[in-house]
Amino acid sequence: MAETTGMSRDAPSARAARIDIDPTGMSGPRKLFVKSYGCQMNVYDSHRMADVLAPHGYVETAAVEDADLVILNTCHIREKAAEKVYSELGRIRKLKDAAARHRRDIVVAVAGCVAQAEGEEIVRRAPVVDVVVGPQSYHRLPALLARAAREGHVVDTDFPIEDKFDHLAAPSRAATRARGVSAFVTVQEGCDKFCSFCVVPYTRGAEVSRPVVQVVAEVERLAEAGVREITLIGQNVNAYHGAGPRGAQWTLGRLLQRVGEIDGIARLRYTTSHLPVQSGSDRILAGMNRRHTRAHYLGVVERLRAARPDLALTSDFIVGFPGETEEDFRETVTLVDEVGFAGAFSFKYSPRPGTPAALADQVPEEIKATRLQRLQQAIDRHQAAFNARALGMTFDVLLEKPGRHPGQLVGRSPYLQPVQVTASADMIGEIVAVTISEIAPNSLFGVLDGPAARAAGRQPAFASPGA
Ligand code: 5AD
Repeated sequence: MAETTGMSRDAPSARAARIDIDPTGMSGPRKLFVKSYGCQMNVYDSHRMADVLAPHGYVETAAVEDADLVILNTCHIREKAAEKVYSELGRIRKLKDAAARHRRDIVVAVAGCVAQAEGEEIVRRAPVVDVVVGPQSYHRLPALLARAAREGHVVDTDFPIEDKFDHLAAPSRAATRARGVSAFVTVQEGCDKFCSFCVVPYTRGAEVSRPVVQVVAEVERLAEAGVREITLIGQNVNAYHGAGPRGAQWTLGRLLQRVGEIDGIARLRYTTSHLPVQSGSDRILAGMNRRHTRAHYLGVVERLRAARPDLALTSDFIVGFPGETEEDFRETVTLVDEVGFAGAFSFKYSPRPGTPAALADQVPEEIKATRLQRLQQAIDRHQAAFNARALGMTFDVLLEKPGRHPGQLVGRSPYLQPVQVTASADMIGEIVAVTISEIAPNSLFGVLDGPAARAAGRQPAFASPGA
């Protein structure tokens, strides 16, 4: 892990004072461009970074060339994700050079899990970077930018004693509205599981749950600004055990009940549980330190389906984990066929620095590539079959934002399949009954189901393509 040369623990919080962080001395709003890589928590964190900078005069822009401050909120989960950052930094260096010719400065910050894992190394590899800030210390961004303006590069990869959530500015109503009717809220962060392939415990840190009152206050504020759907997020969200209003710990179930009572919230989701199976081979699961077996997993699936036959299941898979034989791999494919997933993400194993599996015997790249292809074929087959079953079904869909073509909005089915719906833009935020009229091959198209459909607040139909 990178050495910390960042702020001291007793640094004043961002709330304490409005700090002048305009390195050019120019007045007026400065433009902020934030790019998120990887997981949904990064999307959430990126919003919170913008929120923390807004009181300091930063306004978000979607055009990187206009930006005075560029933040790359990075992902370290696989090597490919991490390397993307350096190619982006190459492009930003050119922008910065061009801006400098017009005496305009562009400040560059690298945030997120690459920042946490690589720290100083980022500045060595890409001197264009002014600030490196980890996922647990971005509440200090205003102070870090001020320090970078005075001293040059700043690296803060502390796991601070103070909780960033106690120091983050709430989003303005306008910012929330601009982000749409569906919002993420972090309720749990970090992981104590230490799967042997995974960097998360090192980059996000130990498992922490936010207190119930904090989560409720955040959701209430979002609801007041027009948000209709909340996804509670955490790296291992079902490990949630935040302090309740009277001090006792609450489970995720209890939290969901409470958040569900908030006026205006019509949809409640949560992700990610620790359910992704990763492999169908017990030998590989043991090597991964997954603490479940194939039989245990299949048993859980059976119980879930007995309780809710309409359940749709998705999963994550890694192929080519160190030591994976053809036989092990085949067990993954047979598991996919046995469960019949509605969809799945699959990845080639990527050795991550500092994780135990990175030191083990690696599977050759070509083998990983063909296995990934074979697995994805199996997954695609099941996904297409699952999607096909939706044809003619009627779902309640929250219309979220403009769709693929003019005259279309996009929302999601109860199974999270994106559905392109022919509907006018003023219907964004409404929950409508949509009948699936076309499937092509992984996209669902739907039409509104008559005027009665416009009654808002209905629960998902759960007509069951999963059965
Ligand atoms: N290599 C490949 N895939 C990985 N994942 C996590 N770590 C690695 C790695 N080192 C995948 C897992 C996880 C998903 C978020 O990313 O499948 O569930």
